[in-house]
Amino acid sequence: MKNIAQLILMLSIILLASCQQKKSDPASIIEQKVDSVLKLMTLEEKIGQMVLYTSDWDITGPTLKKGYLEDIKNGHCGNIFNAHTTAYVHKLQKIAVEESRLGIPLLFGYDVIHGHKTIFPISLGESASWDLVAIENGARVAAIEAAASGLNWTFAPMVDISVDPRWGRVSEGAGEDPFLGSRIAEARVRGFQGKDNNLADTLTLLACVKHFAAYGAPQAGRDYNTVDMSQRVFLDTYLPPYKAAIDAGAMSVMTSFNELDGVPASGSKYLLTDLLRGKLGFKGLVVTDHTSINEMVNHGVADNDAEAGLLAVKAGVDMDMQGEVFFKYLKKQVDDGLVEEKLIDEAVRRVLRVKFMLGLFDDPYKYCNEAREKQLVYAPEHLEAALDMAKKSMVLLKNNNNVLPLKKGEKIAVIGELAASTRDLLGSWKAAGDWDFMKSTLDELKLYNGEKNIFFAEGCKTIGNDRSGFTQAMATARKAEKIVLVIGENWDWSGEAASRTNIKIPGVQTELLEKLKALNKPIIVVLMNGRPLDLTRENELADALLETWYAGTMGGKAITQVLYGEYNPSGKLTMTFPMNVGQIPLYYNAKNTGRPIYLPNDKDKYKSKYIDSPNDPLFPFGYGLSYTTFAYSDIKLSSNELAAKGDLKATVRVTNTGKYDGEEVVQLYVRDLVGSVTRPVKELKGFEKIRLKAGESKVVTFTITPDMLAFHRLDMTYGTEPGDYKLFMGGNSRDVKEAGFKLK
Ligand code: NOJ
Repeated sequence: MKNIAQLILMLSIILLASCQQKKSDPASIIEQKVDSVLKLMTLEEKIGQMVLYTSDWDITGPTLKKGYLEDIKNGHCGNIFNAHTTAYVHKLQKIAVEESRLGIPLLFGYDVIHGHKTIFPISLGESASWDLVAIENGARVAAIEAAASGLNWTFAPMVDISVDPRWGRVSEGAGEDPFLGSRIAEARVRGFQGKDNNLADTLTLLACVKHFAAYGAPQAGRDYNTVDMSQRVFLDTYLPPYKAAIDAGAMSVMTSFNELDGVPASGSKYLLTDLLRGKLGFKGLVVTDHTSINEMVNHGVADNDAEAGLLAVKAGVDMDMQGEVFFKYLKKQVDDGLVEEKLIDEAVRRVLRVKFMLGLFDDPYKYCNEAREKQLVYAPEHLEAALDMAKKSMVLLKNNNNVLPLKKGEKIAVIGELAASTRDLLGSWKAAGDWDFMKSTLDELKLYNGEKNIFFAEGCKTIGNDRSGFTQAMATARKAEKIVLVIGENWDWSGEAASRTNIKIPGVQTELLEKLKALNKPIIVVLMNGRPLDLTRENELADALLETWYAGTMGGKAITQVLYGEYNPSGKLTMTFPMNVGQIPLYYNAKNTGRPIYLPNDKDKYKSKYIDSPNDPLFPFGYGLSYTTFAYSDIKLSSNELAAKGDLKATVRVTNTGKYDGEEVVQLYVRDLVGSVTRPVKELKGFEKIRLKAGESKVVTFTITPDMLAFHRLDMTYGTEPGDYKLFMGGNSRDVKEAGFKLK
């Protein structure tokens, strides 16, 4: 039963809005409604809207910590995360709407990163598809299923650029490149929030761009560690994907755990107010990462939580995730005059604004329709989309003597713990993904090739040094014509708090590969992992290497279809795979240095190189093979000059020279040869994924405009500089055709 205050609230919203109908654009109507609610709120209720608490899970399902239900009732908690299922969300929303004084509905957030129930490949894997339509659709499916399960807010997309595979969270991002990362960030926002950012649509979610900012550059790849970089690198390399996501309409941003230039992000007025709201024009809400306000005490910029809270609110934080800092201290701080209530009003306005945009005041239960949940979760078209994306995400790293694709009916030994695993296929942030529902790679291989043609042995565990299964693995392999060895990292070896100092395949898996090699049978290594690994040894031993990441709910089927050539692999790496951990950070868009080497065996000692390792990566950015081959013609330019307001067309003919139909990602890079500051040796500026039948060729054209060449110049202004440029086109960042032009 609604109480009188709630009725007054609803009436005053309606009245105010209808009195001011002259200003009838939807945005200003929302502003009027926000104002009308704000006027009714006590300071405590306002602070309640700035509070986000987690739901726990036990064997009975979602539950709340003691006290949180009361907090919702009292208006002390306006937002919940980690709670889902329509029934539970309905229960909590009912308390907020019917039992709190003003009846303001709750936001329900969750880490819906690469699917909700139907899980897609991990984000790094999705990025390797270079298929923006499929990536957008993946986010769309995730939003539909999550919204059908009661949620209205996802903590995604994660757009942190990273060049350090020791950092476990590279699995959650889109790799090392700002251009590709930006396009993917936009695609994901469109997918979550819907094409026209219609948050009121019951099947869209509020997106949350994270982690602002530069979280992907922790020193030594150790999670949560210090970030320190030049302002120029920050603006040119790390900022673009956040900006792209905000320009695409993302209405929430999450702060990062790290400091940047000595200031923790959750207390950085520069990041949250001057840059994000000022320069980038962001109008949505800023939520902290989990207890990152409190962590400012450990960072050493505040004496205690209360002081940290002041830093955060003054920097521009609107919502405290789980820290209980605003809840405990903010009211007294306003009463004591330490912070102006005006600032609180601004924060609450931003929270209420998104609640209105989501349509929660019109229908707080709009996400709680059990019939819809049943109909949409695991819908056949969602599983189909997950299968499609899983296949597109896989990267063929090596395929000597065309050992792949496998032929139906061949006797195959499948070895490795990961082959029989379903949980690992889901990767980290599996949301509500359910591995009991799934088939493993082994199950799918048996289904495709027949039980009698697949022999399985675990061989060894993914982690640990138990070799007792080796003998059986050898015996199993002896019976087969080819060996498929499925190795890599367990799912929880990447993601948050999963940094490594050694990025080789863990345990004794490589030793098992060495043993199997002695059998002189073709060995196909199927990799499951969430980061670039040092695969130098595996590359020496295996005949084929297929990178499958953690491929999601349909992963087993996708791996099978790729291995048997039902799908011709087309994925390309979005992070460089180094030869060894000591080369890190290793990325394609590096600087030339004053002492570059142009040949790997350069004899001059005083060059920028190692005495114990080449500089080159094992597999460069943009790299990935196909069962067919592609040839590139020389580049044709429409002109050798690009006018300051003009454009230039660069064309290349790509021919499928092999026996299979296939897809190729045609990549465009440029290099600014002389600048007021040093410039990268290559920068991705465009790409197009094309499909070519065997023998077919296509002309691919890119239009280059001066704005694509802009950067932060010596005086920190953003723009171009006239001069000579190189332009490259090819199927990866290393093997390219080259041309040159002059920017006037
Ligand atoms: C901490 C993680 O850093 C962040 O990415 C996530 O969204 C929150 N926890 C909430 O689960």
